[in-house]
Amino acid sequence: MMTSSSWLNLAGRTAVVFGGASGIGRATAIALAGQRCNVLLADIDSQALDEIKTWDDVIDVNLKGTFLACKKFCDPSRTSRLLQAGGGAIINIGSVVSSYGNVGQVNYSASKGGVEGLTRSLAKEMALLSRSNEPPTSSIRVSCILPGFIDTPMASAVPDKILDKMRAKTALGRLGQPQDVANLVLFLASNRSSFITGETLECSGMLRI
Ligand SMILES: NC(=O)c1ccc[n+]([C@@H]2O[C@H](COP(=O)([O-])OP(=O)(O)OC[C@H]3O[C@@H](n4cnc5c(N)ncnc54)[C@H](O)[C@@H]3O)[C@@H](O)[C@H]2O)c1
Repeated sequence: MMTSSSWLNLAGRTAVVFGGASGIGRATAIALAGQRCNVLLADIDSQALDEIKTWDDVIDVNLKGTFLACKKFCDPSRTSRLLQAGGGAIINIGSVVSSYGNVGQVNYSASKGGVEGLTRSLAKEMALLSRSNEPPTSSIRVSCILPGFIDTPMASAVPDKILDKMRAKTALGRLGQPQDVANLVLFLASNRSSFITGETLECSGMLRI
């Protein structure tokens, strides 16, 4: 006698169920799995889809946002005026996390690593442009600061236990203050750093994750 499973003859077939995380889709997916089908679920609520969306958001804000901002300021109409006016500096903000890695921050560290690479290549492009300009004394320099753990609203979202751990891993034994990073921005923006470009500089109190 044929069982109901063999009568349906679905074993080994592959099914894609859209909206399979809930309701009718979920029940259908369970029923198909009961027939020994290979079931693929597609649902806007799935954790995997959330992860992809988060990845896109982080890359969009940190990397694409930096690219678009740099692109705006490196437009030929702006750069020629800037060079005529004595030059300028672009200072991007990366993170030490891209150098050392951190559990749970794959998307963030990838985006910040991208900012470092963007900085180096753009520094070369701007240096080339600066050299071809008259007078050749002015330049557009591009640098990247890698903050460690800095005491800002962003860091206040981090649990105290983790912050204590980060303090312990920081040679100077404290979180940075926003002013610590701002001071480095001032230096890189000023002519005191006129021979520095394409560099990534840590402002972390020597944090080693
Ligand atoms: N705080 C830290 O420990 C730390 C460590 C390493 C790197 N950083 C980097 O330093 C930078 C500043 O961080 P923070 O600690 O001051 O964060 P924060 O959250 O205190 O401030 C960030 C500010 O940027 C604004 N913002 C976000 N996306 C924007 C966008 N697309 N365009 C314009 N503004 C936008 C937010 O509204 C907010 O006002 C970030 O790039 C962050 O990744 C911070």
